[in-house]
Parts: sequence; C-alpha cells; structure tokens
Amino acid sequence: MTRALVLNGPNLSLLGVREPEVYGSLTAADLADAVAGWAGELGIETETRFTNSEAELVEWIHAAVGTGEAVVLNAAAFTHYSYALRDALATLTGTGSTVIEVHISNPAAREEFRHTSVIAGVCTGTIAGFGFDSYRLALSQIARG
Ligand code: DQA
Repeated sequence: MTRALVLNGPNLSLLGVREPEVYGSLTAADLADAVAGWAGELGIETETRFTNSEAELVEWIHAAVGTGEAVVLNAAAFTHYSYALRDALATLTGTGSTVIEVHISNPAAREEFRHTSVIAGVCTGTIAGFGFDSYRLALSQIARG
C-alpha cells in the first residue's frame, strides 16, 4: 500500500487559534482527521505529525530516505529560510521520493518574505492556497502513483 507522511512545521499545531482569518477555525486535530479520511478514500496509508523543531523535521526527512514513502510537507515558516530543510529534501527527492510542498494559505499573495520558498526547487511540486484541501489535492496526486 502507498504510504505518505504528512509533516507539519512550526505553529501549525495552533491551527484553530492562530490567525483564524488566514488559516480558518479548524484545529490541528481536525486536519489530522481530514487527512486520515481522505487517505482512507484514496486507499493510501498516512501518518500525520506536527513539530515546532527544525531538527526534528530534518530527522524525519532523513528517516524517510530509502523507505519509498511519499511526503506531504507544510514546512510553515521554515519554507522561507531553512537551508537545512532544503538540503535534507534534496536527498529525499534526489533518491526518488515524491515530496509535495503544501500551504493552507497562498504565501505568494501575502507578505513579501513569504514569496520565497527555499524548498520548492527540491520538491516534486507545490500546492498552496486551498485551505486544508491543499493536503487533499496532494494526497490525490500521491494516490495516482
Ligand atoms: C503556511 C504559510 C507560511 O508562510 C506560514 O509561515 C505558515 C503556514 C501555510 O500553510 O499557509 O506557518 O505554510
């Protein structure tokens, strides 16, 4: 069965409380439930994780190398400046894994510092601006194989 890790970076555990006008009123638990539901419909297995730690995110990426697991990644603010995450992802996609960068909001339509993604160039593709549906779209792409 296709397996996908759904990895979420800093402050996404605060969904529902954090800037609801940008990210909506649903919580991180709601996101994890929605992901599990979509994965079930698509016939794939997912594991959803949240962390505020750049080191932990890098370690999760390392652990995914060579497993054949796909990754749906909302790197949150790390998207915009983490060269460590970029370098880790370069190894993951460079060894054949699918990694889809997702964002709930559309960073390109927000503050200038969000217009740069230092990870986009080493991801397989990017989906942004569709709320939690960004994750659903990423999972359906992964399910296509
Ligand atoms: C985000 C967009 C980022 O700019 C921001 O730092 C986040 C969330 C999104 O999902 O829209 O934390 O990745």
